[in-house]
Amino acid sequence: MKFFIDTADVAEIKEVNAMGLLDGVTTNPSLVAKTGRKFKDVLLEICDIVKGPVSAEVTSTDYAGMLKEAHEFAALRTNIVIKVPLIPEGLKVVKTLTGEGIKTNVTLCFSPTQALLAAKAGATYISPFVGRIDDIADAGMDLVAKICKIYRNYGYTTEVLVASVRGPMHVVEAAELGAHVVTCPFGVLKQLTQHPLTDIGLAKFLKDWEKVPK
Ligand code: E4P
Repeated sequence: MKFFIDTADVAEIKEVNAMGLLDGVTTNPSLVAKTGRKFKDVLLEICDIVKGPVSAEVTSTDYAGMLKEAHEFAALRTNIVIKVPLIPEGLKVVKTLTGEGIKTNVTLCFSPTQALLAAKAGATYISPFVGRIDDIADAGMDLVAKICKIYRNYGYTTEVLVASVRGPMHVVEAAELGAHVVTCPFGVLKQLTQHPLTDIGLAKFLKDWEKVPK
């Protein structure tokens, strides 16, 4: 399973990249707004650090506007993936970009039928938002299970990119279901490295080491 980080914070990206964990990056307008920086500057800096796919989201909602933004992003670096909202105009954009050989990540997916349409349009990635579904007392991972099954049934090559991840169990369940990618906030990636028995074990080893004659 590939690990992406869901952030526009360059310091977070550098730290996770140094651990050898990073296969790619997803950003969105809310994450970029938190940085207080210009999107293009952030995007270029991220692409200098990460060679894998870096998702850049369009903010227009009409076909021509989205396509214009997509072409501008795609011209910046070859590893930029165009993030497009799952709306009818967005599917048209995905079809056009796919025909041009430009990779896409279809975002804000909340149903199996939406995921099916994105695959038919030729999306490179589909992003089901599991945490936001959990937030409204439904089961986000059930959506991932359905998408994985549907894609397998018909041999779609669109990769399932589990998004809106809230904690380690989303990662475990995504891996069990065979999702291709999970994109995690920095905090969740850190949580994945932690176990209380590791800390207790390390503390004991270090204490015992003090008794060893040097
Ligand atoms: C996905 O690509 C989105 O950037 C992200 O996962 C949304 O997560 P949120 O629901 O925590 O905002």
